[in-house]
Amino acid sequence: MRTWWKEAVGYQIYPRSFKDSNNDGIGDINGIREKLGYLKELGIDFIWITPIYASPNFDNGYDISDYCAISSDFGTMEEFKELVNEAKRLEIKIIMDLVINHTSNQHNWFEKSRQKDPNYRDFYIWHEPVNGKEPNDWQSIFGGSVWTYDKVREEYYFHTFAKEQPDLNWDSPAMKNKIVEMIEWWANQGIDGFRIDAISHIKKEKWDQPNNDPKRPFKAFQNVEGIGEYLTELNTIFKKHNLMTVGEASGVTAEEAEVWVGKDGYFNMIFEFEHTGLWRTANDEQPFKQFKEALVRWQEACANDKGWNALYMENHDLPRSISVYGDDSSVYRTISGKALAMAFMLLQGTPFIYQGQEIGMTNTTFDSIDEVNATDTIYMYHQLITNGYSETQALEQISAVTRDNARTPMQWDGSEFAGFSETKPWLKVNQNKGSVNVKLEQEDANSIFNFYKQLIQLRKNHPVFVSGEFRYVETEAEPVFHYERRNEQEQYAIVVNLSKEEQAFVSLDELTDNKLVLSNYLDYDFSKLRPFEARLYKLS
Ligand code: GLC
Ligand code: CA
Repeated sequence: MRTWWKEAVGYQIYPRSFKDSNNDGIGDINGIREKLGYLKELGIDFIWITPIYASPNFDNGYDISDYCAISSDFGTMEEFKELVNEAKRLEIKIIMDLVINHTSNQHNWFEKSRQKDPNYRDFYIWHEPVNGKEPNDWQSIFGGSVWTYDKVREEYYFHTFAKEQPDLNWDSPAMKNKIVEMIEWWANQGIDGFRIDAISHIKKEKWDQPNNDPKRPFKAFQNVEGIGEYLTELNTIFKKHNLMTVGEASGVTAEEAEVWVGKDGYFNMIFEFEHTGLWRTANDEQPFKQFKEALVRWQEACANDKGWNALYMENHDLPRSISVYGDDSSVYRTISGKALAMAFMLLQGTPFIYQGQEIGMTNTTFDSIDEVNATDTIYMYHQLITNGYSETQALEQISAVTRDNARTPMQWDGSEFAGFSETKPWLKVNQNKGSVNVKLEQEDANSIFNFYKQLIQLRKNHPVFVSGEFRYVETEAEPVFHYERRNEQEQYAIVVNLSKEEQAFVSLDELTDNKLVLSNYLDYDFSKLRPFEARLYKLS
């Protein structure tokens, strides 16, 4: 059976930074609409839009105060409907972000819950003080205790992330009903699916369990045993409305792939964290072996219809992939950007391209903490200062890892605000806008953008890249990622040098008799792979 989302290529839009249509410095719905043609040209089949709902923006929209209202920063419900219609006309599907682990503390459910309104009192996770203190010492993902005291209710409430993001109580049937109602409401707005935020956190351990394993610091509220009961219930709603689902599932390992994304799994796909979790900074030594192992583990776990992968290298929470895994100097930016593109776009699964990835956007430099927006980064900065770092050292450290790197405005051209807006945007524009932008990339036949276009067309024209078998090939060169895709009609080999050093290895010699279909170097060398060289061979 053919399934649209297996054959599709997705594109993630972070609306605040995509395109500002009314020049107030904030990207918006009409900006997305303006650029649908661009996405069509690239070959995109669906877009995932991160939250555009009413929110006080403590965590840029991941703190929702009204699920069924559009934030005025982004536009109106009418404009959203126009976007849906226009996207339909262009055959681009729309996936919305579903944030149901928590709401904003300004959601009226929370207000009612803290007032102990009988209809809402158990909507959140409340606990009376224990010996005048927090019920336990668990630490939240954004730093500090998971518990915050509420003076009105005179109890603590639980939050996986910031204190402005209280967790919903998934043991409350009334709460669940409200969420189901909301999901159904959105399903009726003509959307095609959901990316489900932070979903592996909705179940918590008993409060008296210790949570001090430094390797898994959030273990007590991440993929906790029994979570499947909640997820199975949710799945029936998604199925009923024929919605495509991709869950954000930190803490889920490849061993659990079938349970999460198999035939009777909770979701169609998940974003796993194993490969991206390995590389946090641009300065780390590159763990090639573990990186390949993580990717291969997931490929094999989902083989033979045991599941389906969501392929990604970037999102709005991670620094830019070229800066982390590749090389963002002017010498290798284009080459390493293409190498990463080939390594991940031809794996089995549905690719999700994050805005700007297709033009090789890179990390930026933050010159002052005032230029940083992400609350978790600001928290980290102050921690570093407390631990004795100088301001310069702390800035350097956070510049390399902050998710704001992914959130700088999309670079459409080389003008002052990169064609994103005519006013100063909410977050600084990357200083390299003059050399890295859509306009230049479209004009240059050898650009990263045109390379992505070719890879997308390969997926569309050759079913082997969608449903063909994935086969990992061992090489003695650790930084080389070598794999094959095979079906009865066609066989291909992909070899990518993930490093800046030249690599020569035995299986390369065997490959060079085959037809070279695509590569990121303009000339050919039989004997070795040059820095970040990537080749696609059709096997004969
Ligand atoms: C997810 C989102 C991230 C957000 C967090 C809390 O991880 O991707 O941006 O901060 O959930 O909602
Ligand atoms: Ca705007």
